Amino acid sequence: MKVLVTDPIADPGLDRLREAGHEVETDYDVEGEALLDAVSDANALIVRSGTDVSREVFEAASELVIVGRAGIGVDNIDIDAATDHGVIVANAPEGNVRAAAEHTVAMTFAVARSIPQAHGRLKGGEWAKGEFLGTELNNKTLGIVGLGRVGQEVAKRLDSLGMDLVVYDPYISEERAAQFGADLVDDLHEALSRADVATVHTPLLPETEGMIGEDELAQLEGGYLINCARGGIVDEDALAEAVDDGVVAGAALDSFAEEPLPADSPLLDVEDVVVTPHLGASTEAAQENVAVDTAEAVIAAFDGEPVLTA
Ligand code: NAD
Ligand code: MLT
Repeated sequence: MKVLVTDPIADPGLDRLREAGHEVETDYDVEGEALLDAVSDANALIVRSGTDVSREVFEAASELVIVGRAGIGVDNIDIDAATDHGVIVANAPEGNVRAAAEHTVAMTFAVARSIPQAHGRLKGGEWAKGEFLGTELNNKTLGIVGLGRVGQEVAKRLDSLGMDLVVYDPYISEERAAQFGADLVDDLHEALSRADVATVHTPLLPETEGMIGEDELAQLEGGYLINCARGGIVDEDALAEAVDDGVVAGAALDSFAEEPLPADSPLLDVEDVVVTPHLGASTEAAQENVAVDTAEAVIAAFDGEPVLTA
């Protein structure tokens, strides 16, 4: 069977597919008409977040059995179109969870202690010690929006650093939140108003798009916002304005409404906003995990075995 891979995945995943006897074609820059051409005789398509797997792609891919997403978010895949064409969509929901959680913790420290800003000043020859007075996380409150896999791992790590936890997630029980030492509230504004640091861990869905806007940032007054989930959940214009005006103290973002390179995002110009280019899952371990898990899903689909769908 032919497997087309259009975003880079780790070698162990590609090796696993070849060992199983499948033909693997990697084409990491392909898009538009060239993608439609490339996918026309593929039996499987493997992507990360860089390929837009639109309805047109499914229409062009008459031999397609499965789309494998080497990662968690499937917001770049038209799931309705996949269903209409009888194509399986499988993600790798576990392999990069710890990497994403660790990155969230790193971003929290980065913004609370102005690490990138201080680093830049010192590398530029300035000893700006007197200009940076950070916020200690110990005894502060962390507001977690979405207590799923990543949110839970973040909860464990920041709980161990002495933070109190408050959670907004309408789809979990109080008992579940309590297992992580967190108070569950049924109002997003309440979670944000109690938080010194708020961190977003929901999928990007019609329901969550723009869920953190001007009114929500006003509730977080004086706190920090972290988004290592998906661009589009946070209104970037509202956030830039809120940080600029001092309504919130700062923000750290790993994902943007426009990727790659959110060149038009006002956030890139705000000093107290720390940014990374969607690095949450970029560890060797996470990339090996998701590549192998995705390869296994593709092989199972080819063999007619059950596949856990996204
Ligand atoms: P998950 O599905 O395990 O958890 C999502 C949680 O959000 C669930 O508990 C769900 O109940 C909750 N939720 C859904 N709608 C909500 C709403 N309206 N309000 C509050 N909570 C809501 O997902 P996950 O694996 O924890 O991933 C979380 C996010 O992190 C996803 O957007 C994923 O794509 C992203 N992610 C990013 C990176 C990265 O590289 N930056 C890496 C991994 C995951
Ligand atoms: C994910 O949803 O898993 C992330 O986008 C990670 C990635 O593939 O970069």
